[in-house]
Amino acid sequence: MPQEVRGVIAKAKGEPVSVETIVIPDPGPGEAVVAIQACGVCHTDLHYREGGINDEFPFLLGHEAAGLVESVGDGVIDVAPGDYVILNWRAVCGQCRACLKGKPQYCFATHNAQQKMTLTDGTELSPALGIGAFCEKTLVAAGQCTKVNPEAKPEVAGLLGCGVMAGIGAAINTGGVGRGDSVAVFGCGGVGDGAVEGARLAGASTIIAVDIDDTKLEWARQFGATHTINSSNEDPVEKIRELTGGNGVDVAIEAIGLPKTYEQAFYARDLAGTVVLVGVPNPDMKVELPYLDIFGRGGALKSSWYGDCLPSRDFPMLIDLYLQGRLNLDGFVSETISIDEVEEAFHKMERGEVLRSVVVL
Ligand SMILES: NC(=O)c1ccc[n+]([C@@H]2O[C@H](COP(=O)([O-])OP(=O)(O)OC[C@H]3O[C@@H](n4cnc5c(N)ncnc54)[C@H](O)[C@@H]3O)[C@@H](O)[C@H]2O)c1
Ligand SMILES: [Zn+2]
Ligand SMILES: [Zn+2]
Repeated sequence: MPQEVRGVIAKAKGEPVSVETIVIPDPGPGEAVVAIQACGVCHTDLHYREGGINDEFPFLLGHEAAGLVESVGDGVIDVAPGDYVILNWRAVCGQCRACLKGKPQYCFATHNAQQKMTLTDGTELSPALGIGAFCEKTLVAAGQCTKVNPEAKPEVAGLLGCGVMAGIGAAINTGGVGRGDSVAVFGCGGVGDGAVEGARLAGASTIIAVDIDDTKLEWARQFGATHTINSSNEDPVEKIRELTGGNGVDVAIEAIGLPKTYEQAFYARDLAGTVVLVGVPNPDMKVELPYLDIFGRGGALKSSWYGDCLPSRDFPMLIDLYLQGRLNLDGFVSETISIDEVEEAFHKMERGEVLRSVVVL
């Protein structure tokens, strides 16, 4: 029997979100229904509401979630009712050219549930990143459920489902940060501080956090930044060079999605260094760089989708590190809120008051 539950909908570009009744079908072959316990508010949810991702409104928002599998459809063998899972937006296909090359973290044909969740009048919903978890229950592809140790509480575990994983992975997987490296992170929200955490875990000895907000910089220090720069007061490129013997950093990570900060990251890195773009640009943005500088500085310009993570490999490992006290996930949870408070959480995010508001269901 299809179930009716409450979920957060973005109906039109820029309009405040609302809580509506959502119809969840029973899971079909390869699908699972998950009872959501917690879901973080990510900037990408706000990008959806602003029409910055696509215009397939109405969206069922929320995608950084953990919960319990309630039921599974035919042919599902990897998860079972009662399993504690983090939802991922990289259910790998095993058959695309990336998967066949043994690089499933780049899978080009990830899958989501086949059936649609709807409003009570039958309007089909577009779940954010194929998840839609500001909702009491959601329908996903079973491969989007990654089992982790249930000792980790849902409000922290869920954060690995998107932003924090994207940040940690931008440093470790995409940037290849290693022991003794110098790293600069531009933008210290949930994603940027994830990158700071990742750089610390990987053994970077210099971690420079850049933001325009002093509170964010203070939080970045708590995650392991060794230096902070408020780029509204001083030129971050000059300051980063000064902090690195005049050279620049080995890895510069842009976690905002602005052309200006991408350029800063580009010039803040050492010769043969790596720039990692993990912030998401809007469709109308352009970057202009001297072609000779792109050549002359060498190194690599990389983009990081979801921190190049492989959920089955990375989520259980990071949860284990958290439970051992070696990864600070608690520090990302600024507040827990109810499902009725997502619109207010967007405003708090815009005002820079939170790293993550987490909806607890
Ligand atoms: N690549 C991915 O897979 C992935 C995954 C999740 C989120 N993201 C993207 O990462 C970005 C960050 O997400 P978030 O949730 O951390 O957002 P956030 O709003 O919490 O953080 C952004 C930070 O950037 C700072 N900032 C803004 N303008 C700045 C400037 N000019 N210079 C320096 N700092 C500035 C803000 O003060 C804030 O601390 C977003 O674009 C989001 O869509 C990407
Ligand atoms: Zn694939
Ligand atoms: Zn996200």
